Amino acid sequence: MRRLFLLWAACLGCELRPQLAGREVDLSELGKRLRPGFLLGAATSSHQVEGNNSNDWTDWEETSFEDGRPHIEDGSRSGLATDSYSRFEEDLQLLRRLGANAYRFSIEWSRLQPEENLWREEVANRYLQWAIELRQAGIEPMVTVHHFTLPKWVAARGGWESDGTLEHFERFASRLAGRLGSEVDLWCTVNEPNVQAVQGYLLGIWPPGKQSNRDTALVMARLIEAHARAAKAIRAADRQDADHDGKPAMVGLAHHARIFQPATGSALDASVAALTDDFFNETVVRAARTGRIQLSVPGQLDLDKEVPGLLGSFDYLGLNYYTRDHVRADLSDPSFSHQYVPEGRPRNGLGWDIYPEGLYLLLRRFAREGLPIYVTENGIADNGGEQRPTYLAEHLFALERAASEGVDVRGYFHWSLLDNFEWAEGYEPRFGLFRVDFDGPERTRTETQAVDTFRQVARNLGLSPAP
Ligand code: NOJ
Repeated sequence: MRRLFLLWAACLGCELRPQLAGREVDLSELGKRLRPGFLLGAATSSHQVEGNNSNDWTDWEETSFEDGRPHIEDGSRSGLATDSYSRFEEDLQLLRRLGANAYRFSIEWSRLQPEENLWREEVANRYLQWAIELRQAGIEPMVTVHHFTLPKWVAARGGWESDGTLEHFERFASRLAGRLGSEVDLWCTVNEPNVQAVQGYLLGIWPPGKQSNRDTALVMARLIEAHARAAKAIRAADRQDADHDGKPAMVGLAHHARIFQPATGSALDASVAALTDDFFNETVVRAARTGRIQLSVPGQLDLDKEVPGLLGSFDYLGLNYYTRDHVRADLSDPSFSHQYVPEGRPRNGLGWDIYPEGLYLLLRRFAREGLPIYVTENGIADNGGEQRPTYLAEHLFALERAASEGVDVRGYFHWSLLDNFEWAEGYEPRFGLFRVDFDGPERTRTETQAVDTFRQVARNLGLSPAP
């Protein structure tokens, strides 16, 4: 199992050109078939943009692996990031310039509760103010409660390995929903349980840097359980229907899914790919459907657990989609699995396969759950900004195709509004619709070429980008 994901991660370091060539997408028509009220937005997360955070990640950034390599590849620290905590109003103008009608951002738990018995009301007010300003600008806020980072005091008590964290998280979610509920209806409890579990507990390349099959399963399950607890707490605390759609809270989580494509038609490749797919793509979706967390990797993981409150805890499914991996059975490897991007495939700056059809396929597949879907993230590491316009257009085209075939997809959030701190890869990869100058204290934002593409789609949807 561990090897399986090591290989998977290794191939993330591997190059671009979509199968749907950009010219095939008619920009003047793109988005016109989407439902009225479709949310077209951008996403960020607190630790990646706010600046001056102090949490389990800042500790991780300060330290190194046993062999001396820094935890962050380029040796950087999140530091001032894009300074978005102080520059929210500036970012709001960027969203207006895009013509976005939605913004997904996350709450930094460690900022609100730097200590267990401390709640910083001024921080809650500031987040509330953001939501007010967004709503006034016609931009629907989607709030993520947990996006990878923990307060130091929570991490010190075992973080997601400890049962106690569930209690703390539930209380935090309840208090937050009570404070922001008047302005926020769209809640995303937890971001990417599978990625956090794999990176932090299997590969050991994110905090807390463990490498254990058992802990990976435990933490994945606990993050799903955290979703169920937070969903209950949010629904109880958020009674105000901010957008007047008859529902005060729409709760879901952001699930990272990718295509695992068997490299050949052999039964062996197919079964290894299916195993990987089941663990990585299906665990969360199955949990939503059955109320049980069921994990099984023969000889390595086995968990089947009913979680109270899990069934019915999803009002929607959030989908974070970026890429595809090819999977080849490799009998010399304990996991039998080798994952890679074949020669000649179009790649992004991090080596990830660019495969817009994957978004269509996953939307079709997850539609079977009968839940509305939001694409909570989709984007490209592209430092020059030349690939992003096509990437954006082709993924929106794939989404629109799924929607026109009946998939209830209600929104698309591009990752990301701004270049930001890309976790273990530091500041090297750039995902932003707006480029950020990380050398200057002003953190000056400038448009990349994809802004025009985004604005065109916004206009096609009847939105009015600011000049
Ligand atoms: C998904 C994560 O939620 C986000 O934090 C990250 O920056 C993007 N993927 C790009 O890797």
